[in-house]
Amino acid sequence: MNAATTTVPVIAIDGPSASGKGTIAERVAEALGFHYLDSGALYRLVALAALQVGVGLDDETALAALAEDLDVRFSGGEIVTSDQIVTDNIRSEVCGIGASQVAAFPAVRQALLARQRAFREAPGLVAEGRDMTTVVFPDATLKIFLTASAEIRAERRYKQLKEKGIDANIRTLLLELRERDERDSARSVAPLQKAADARELDSSGLGIEEIVRQVLDWYRQKVAGSQHL
Ligand code: C5P
Repeated sequence: MNAATTTVPVIAIDGPSASGKGTIAERVAEALGFHYLDSGALYRLVALAALQVGVGLDDETALAALAEDLDVRFSGGEIVTSDQIVTDNIRSEVCGIGASQVAAFPAVRQALLARQRAFREAPGLVAEGRDMTTVVFPDATLKIFLTASAEIRAERRYKQLKEKGIDANIRTLLLELRERDERDSARSVAPLQKAADARELDSSGLGIEEIVRQVLDWYRQKVAGSQHL
């Protein structure tokens, strides 16, 4: 990070799987004309690459090398790696679970750090994941910890999969979500946790528009507050 990039505003959103971070972050970015970083996609890409080339999901050194060399482009809503469009492939539960396994390795996280910070470009960035508020952008303008009950998150994931014509079982989804929450929160490096200076937003009973409006209101208050200093 240099002085020029740290003046670029960042809205950092963390939270557990299927809390709605992706949709909210994308909408907020669109409303403000900001860039958008889906950091989970990077961990999913590492898992996908490992599965494709036969690297074990327990081989930290080889996984970190894959993360370092990741050839990825985010272009027009598509994710392209080595000329392959993988936008849908990385959304599979296999990649999600694999991502959470590779994400527990410090060397993998370190290999992805500079790549994530490089998304911080004018006029601003909305970044979502598990450690956006705590590790990647500790100086973010606004920090949000977005939650929802595990049952509601499993239901949302179930509907998303059904809409895509993918068969799913809600009880299995709930179990997988709980396992993933546990692994993401209990790991020793960059665990999922609410930053002391983050605002908590429970999305359980709220619609997408309400949540987006709340985030935008908080951001505008922050900006107005800092201009009066
Ligand atoms: O957000 P998403 O479900 O796509 O993330 C997949 C996995 O990647 C998470 O379960 C988590 O283990 C890992 N991840 C992470 N840090 C981030 C984003 C995602 O550890 N900033």
